[in-house]
Amino acid sequence: MDCSKLRKRERAGVGVKQEKMEDRTVIRAEQVRFQYKKRDVDGNVIATEEILKGVDLTIKKGEFIALLGRNGSGKTTFSKQLNAILRPSEGTVTVDEMGTRDAEKLYEIRQHVGMVFQNPDNQMVAANVEEEVAFGPENLGMESDTIVARVKQALEQVRMWKRRKTAPNHLSGGQKQRIAIAGILAMHPDYIVLDEPTAMLDPKGRKEVMEALQRLNREQEMTVILITHDMEEAALASRVILLADGQVRFDGTPEKFFGADVLLAEMGMEAPLSYRVRKLIDSDVFVEKVGDAREDEATTGKRENLSEYDKSGREWEASSELVDKKKNEKAEAETDEKNQALISLQHVSYIYSPGTAYEKVALDDVNLSLGKGEIVGLAGHTGSGKSTMIQLLNGLLKPTSGTVTFEGKDIHAKGYSGNYLRSKVGMVFQYPEHQMICDTVWEDVAFGPSKQGLTGEACETRVEEALRFVDLPEKYYQASPLQLSGGQKRRVAIAGVLAMHPEYIILDEPAAGLDAAGKREIFDRIRRMSREQGIGVLLVSHSMEDLAEYADRIIVLDDGKKILDDRPAQVFAKRETLADCGLDVPETVKLADKLRANGYQIPQNVIREKELLDYLGNCTNSTAGRKSVDTENRLDERKQGDNL
Ligand SMILES: Nc1ncnc2c1ncn2[C@@H]1O[C@H](COP(=O)(O)OP(=O)(O)OP(=O)(O)O)[C@@H](O)[C@H]1O
Ligand SMILES: [Mg+2]
Repeated sequence: MDCSKLRKRERAGVGVKQEKMEDRTVIRAEQVRFQYKKRDVDGNVIATEEILKGVDLTIKKGEFIALLGRNGSGKTTFSKQLNAILRPSEGTVTVDEMGTRDAEKLYEIRQHVGMVFQNPDNQMVAANVEEEVAFGPENLGMESDTIVARVKQALEQVRMWKRRKTAPNHLSGGQKQRIAIAGILAMHPDYIVLDEPTAMLDPKGRKEVMEALQRLNREQEMTVILITHDMEEAALASRVILLADGQVRFDGTPEKFFGADVLLAEMGMEAPLSYRVRKLIDSDVFVEKVGDAREDEATTGKRENLSEYDKSGREWEASSELVDKKKNEKAEAETDEKNQALISLQHVSYIYSPGTAYEKVALDDVNLSLGKGEIVGLAGHTGSGKSTMIQLLNGLLKPTSGTVTFEGKDIHAKGYSGNYLRSKVGMVFQYPEHQMICDTVWEDVAFGPSKQGLTGEACETRVEEALRFVDLPEKYYQASPLQLSGGQKRRVAIAGVLAMHPEYIILDEPAAGLDAAGKREIFDRIRRMSREQGIGVLLVSHSMEDLAEYADRIIVLDDGKKILDDRPAQVFAKRETLADCGLDVPETVKLADKLRANGYQIPQNVIREKELLDYLGNCTNSTAGRKSVDTENRLDERKQGDNL
């Protein structure tokens, strides 16, 4: 989020929204306790675990609430209390004065509170998008004209009207989530609860969903309760509620929350980058050493306008073209050597339902080479072909034309062992629950190694190692995967693949659903593993921040074509190309551009959060600062060294 907006709202005390808001409490939780019963495979209760331990909160009409908390902190459990999917073991939840324990009110409560869950697949029932969205209003017994109008309105709100005849199973994860949201909107609920609705979306889809939610909140005073791990999203809320240890640990404005350094650190969370940068450059020591950018505030609007932003971007592209060319040649030579083409795609195309009305070219003449010890990022808007590509890489799909090789051998040649390939190329799917088939977490992680022929201690060591790697608490080792939170399932899915000791790992949106600290820990470990053991990693991600942070190289797909394959700094320099295919640059790059427009000389190749914060931090340690060409050159050299 733009930090100037945050500051403006801060100054206004986020007043606009609150003035408009009726001061009417619509949802009330009082001393809510909730226990899950743990059962063995035969369904006998073997233990209970108290998740909510006295939650007290009230929600007023028209609020936009971000519900935050670490994996397993009870966010989903709490949100299910709001429309009586779950009911408190003790205490009360009331919605418009209706208690959720009153069985007669269930239907009415569910009409008032619409829910969108973490995984849209669980909510899809109909044959096509239009019918899917019509399902709710039909169930409410509405007139068909009203249904048609509502379906159209809801689909337009999530920009999916054009796909109204598509079957849900032909949609990508992100598109499905937008349909799930439309399905709820079509019922015109008073309150809408969304459980990480944007976790699977590309930046464009994410922005559209967040804008749709903000519009609903602003224009229709829709009360929105948004569960998220994303602080940029939390910054857009009028109020943040943090759950920890089964209780409300924080309840206040985003601004206050982002200022609560100790609490944030304890939770492993960080304020949005824009907020941290602003804090740094507003600090007295920075102002004293470097100069006060705030004096420019009157002209900030002009300086930040797009034409300047474009111009500086283009100038840089032109001047760095030669350097880029040389760098690329060297990088390519190195990549080839490093790669030893563990996996390669040669002129690979893939067509879904060829020769039918649903024919869709998902991948179009793609050449690609992936090797050891390198983390390659794969980006592209929803539906651009990423999921198809990774299924081709581990042999789940067979190309319509072209060749896929592993260790130089055609994986579809007669006699080639699919089992061998799948034990060497591990894949963590976008929806982790698709991957879980056993009764307990332990058995699930042991499934792969035992298929590889490991038994007894050897197998157990692998399982334990992998579960420790993903930091799953031991108490869940014997739990059913169905009893895990979204983030815990993700951890188990990653462990299941790591336990097989693959040579190549494909991770499809592995960060979706992980809390900030968990994501950092797991990604850092994967990077270390890749470096130390030479394991190749393909990281499919919508998060440009994650790609900037972890990828050595980034591939961009657009409508089934590979349009970029380069070092991160080079890829993020192509702002227009990325924007054309619905992608964005990392927040760091955008902020650095804004700072440049305000006179700060930030090196052009700063793409990671830490680089930007370090650079600004260094300014306060030197007398250089805004005109610090020396520092810039030094950083340039260091970064180039990193890259080459
Ligand atoms: N059906 C279930 N049976 C037993 N335990 C469960 C069940 N569902 C969740 N739990 C447990 O309750 C705790 C809270 O889970 P919940 O899904 O509410 O967390 P969450 O805050 O939404 O986490 P995440 O960020 O990972 O989505 C977890 O420890 C989980 O293992
Ligand atoms: Mg959850």
